[in-house]
Amino acid sequence: MINTFGLACLLLSFSALAADPAPVATPTPIKSGQESAQFCRHCHGEAGISLHPDIPNLAGQNAAYLLDQMNKFAAGKRKNEFMEGLIKALKPEERANIALYFSQQKVMPQPARNSAQTETGGKLYAKLCVYCHGDNAYGSDSIPRLAGQQTVYLQLSLKRYRSGSGERIDPRMQSYTRNLKDNDIDNLAAYLASLR
Ligand code: HEC
Ligand code: HEC
Repeated sequence: MINTFGLACLLLSFSALAADPAPVATPTPIKSGQESAQFCRHCHGEAGISLHPDIPNLAGQNAAYLLDQMNKFAAGKRKNEFMEGLIKALKPEERANIALYFSQQKVMPQPARNSAQTETGGKLYAKLCVYCHGDNAYGSDSIPRLAGQQTVYLQLSLKRYRSGSGERIDPRMQSYTRNLKDNDIDNLAAYLASLR
């Protein structure tokens, strides 16, 4: 319980703050995002290019999508124990700044290793996926960019949507992956990872 004297002191210090704002330069949202994202590089790599094939690149990903996924982790709607705990500890403003920072970083596509695979994958993509993820697989707003994403991460994500295992739930992705065979998933992932 706070007494009247404590309350008066608090009010005084608030009005002092308001009357005399400290002359600090406000960092830009992107710069703040870069600072808050220091820790992320251990897994997502320097400037969002992941060093692990099963961990997603964040570089060049759409800002609204990144923010949406962070909020899903924080709310336990997307399951990954580590990511859930980490994002919960970030304030909404930090999440937004981090999303903005990564969205502005450059993507580095991986060299295509098997051109027959990428060709088949490309045809399947044009048939099933282009409607939402776009001609260049850049996505839009809340639809993720897939171009240049890590191969194993793409495979893993598609299999999770397909099986409905519960790590990620999205009715659209569940219906579009339902009839894919493992082979289709490998081809799609090879194609998408090779795009710029
Ligand atoms: C210990 C490793 C690790 C660290 C550190 C880490 N992440 Fe992750 N992150 C992962 C993994 C693994 C996934 C994939 C989770 C999945 O799909 O199951 C992921 C997924 C994500 C995604 C979803 C990307 C997508 O394409 O859907 C976002 C956004 C994200 N992380 C943001 C961050 C941010 C921001 C930080 C730093 C504050 C961070 N991560 C630090 C391991 C890490
Ligand atoms: C009707 C629109 C729609 C279609 C068609 C669609 N997607 Fe998606 N896709 C989405 C949305 C929305 C999300 C984000 C869902 C979420 O929050 O988990 C997504 C997420 C993904 C992800 C996860 C990306 C990441 O960074 O974690 C992959 C991979 C993916 N889609 C691949 C595909 C492929 C391959 C196809 C074609 C077989 C396809 N999608 C068709 C709307 C679509």
